[in-house]
Amino acid sequence: MTAVGIDAIEIWTGKLTLNLPETFAPVKGEDPAKYTKGLGLETSSFPDVYEDIVTMGANAAKRLMDRRGLTPDDIGRIDVATESAFDNSKPVSTYIAGCLEQTYEGDFRHANKGERKFACVAGTQSIDDAYNWIKAGRNRGRAALVIATDTALYARGDPGEATQGAGAVAMLIDEEPSVVELSTEQGYGSMDETDFLKPNQQFPSVDGKRSMQVYLARMREALEDYESVAGRTKVEDFEYIPFHTPFPGMVRKAGLLGYRHMIRDTEKEDELADRIGRQPREADFDSWDDYEEAIRAYMDDLKETDEYREWYGRVIDPTLSLARRVGNWYTGSVHVARTSALKHAYETGKAMTGKQLLVGSYGSGAQAEIHAETVREGWRDEIEALNVDEQLAGRYDLDFEEYEQVHDAHNHEKDVELEEFTQPANEFVFTGWGRMNERKYEYVE
Ligand code: CAA
Repeated sequence: MTAVGIDAIEIWTGKLTLNLPETFAPVKGEDPAKYTKGLGLETSSFPDVYEDIVTMGANAAKRLMDRRGLTPDDIGRIDVATESAFDNSKPVSTYIAGCLEQTYEGDFRHANKGERKFACVAGTQSIDDAYNWIKAGRNRGRAALVIATDTALYARGDPGEATQGAGAVAMLIDEEPSVVELSTEQGYGSMDETDFLKPNQQFPSVDGKRSMQVYLARMREALEDYESVAGRTKVEDFEYIPFHTPFPGMVRKAGLLGYRHMIRDTEKEDELADRIGRQPREADFDSWDDYEEAIRAYMDDLKETDEYREWYGRVIDPTLSLARRVGNWYTGSVHVARTSALKHAYETGKAMTGKQLLVGSYGSGAQAEIHAETVREGWRDEIEALNVDEQLAGRYDLDFEEYEQVHDAHNHEKDVELEEFTQPANEFVFTGWGRMNERKYEYVE
């Protein structure tokens, strides 16, 4: 069977940054440790005034195409996943294709274009669509371009304001991929939920605490569903487990839950039993509340064990290094987590070919998806080619007043003229609106 998966990855970050402990926390009157230790964030990325989901997506895609020497004829499909679309009819992929056609010979006239929506899980769903299209033999030898792009802004004063971010991840999905092969097996946890939504509004309505519970509940169901087709998951099976990362503190909770689930009824549970007891079983309790309380106590003890700490530091923590510096990129977030993991492996000289990742995606509203990935031989060259550290180091560091201006400039309800903070070069920029209220773009040298 032909392997299908991610052949190339590129990341494009918004050009501005906000330092959470140093710039945001003092104005909010909060302890900086709430951001660094509690949420697990240092800085977030923001778009400059000439950036938006189209420019960031097109810039990531162009870097990917240039690096791999691709032309539009090589691409049979362009899918954009976003929660930040500004048009209910014309998909963002058409804008991005239009941008790319300004700089390449040829066009994407025969490529199928679309836009995927299911909150943050839509990026993974777009990869699925591409995978299925290739596996069905409909791709005519061409690859799919999947672009996850978002400006994850919250209303000023919303608790989510601390977790904002902006950036794009472009991925080439192809046969015999260089980075990872996707498993056929998948698990889903999906329910009609009202935790985070944008009913025709730019900034989300969020029930923050509820959204965290829903994330964990759906993720657990997805893992159980995945195991029903792929068999039991064990902690030794996976080199890294990248999760959707709205903020690293959320993944800390998901990691602990996952570890507890994976060691249940294994030698590891027996080994730990001398110190923290065995995991509470629902059948042993008269009421759900008593069971929940016992589980909470067990988890509190579990997270303090050396075994758990060692596993977390090796398998989960490396997936969070980019998220700490960029915040939430919604549809791109789990793909940023996978990239962080592989970057960590590259930087520490780890052998990864043939090793497994377990990938946990999540979208509010709500749906989690879990699948496995097998790392392919070309992963090292792909990760080496990323310039994400350079991009992050080059961001303009906003003071609080500038942050407020940038937030206003991107607020669709406000009409704000603001000078750009950075000078664009060799990239697509937003230049204004056309006669039908369409957004216009140009490539600047
Ligand atoms: N030192 C160390 N830790 C501190 C601290 C300090 N001084 N002060 C606070 N903390 C800890 C808190 O204990 C808490 O950690 P625990 O949950 O482990 O106890 C953490 O820092 C955050 O503090 P609060 O809970 O008080 O923070 P908050 O209520 O202001 O906001 C939030 C948290 C509700 C998640 C908010 O950021 C939010 O609404 N975010 C947007 C929604 C979101 O991201 N939900 C995640 C699941 S939904 C999803 O994944 C989809 C998506 O992308 C949006």
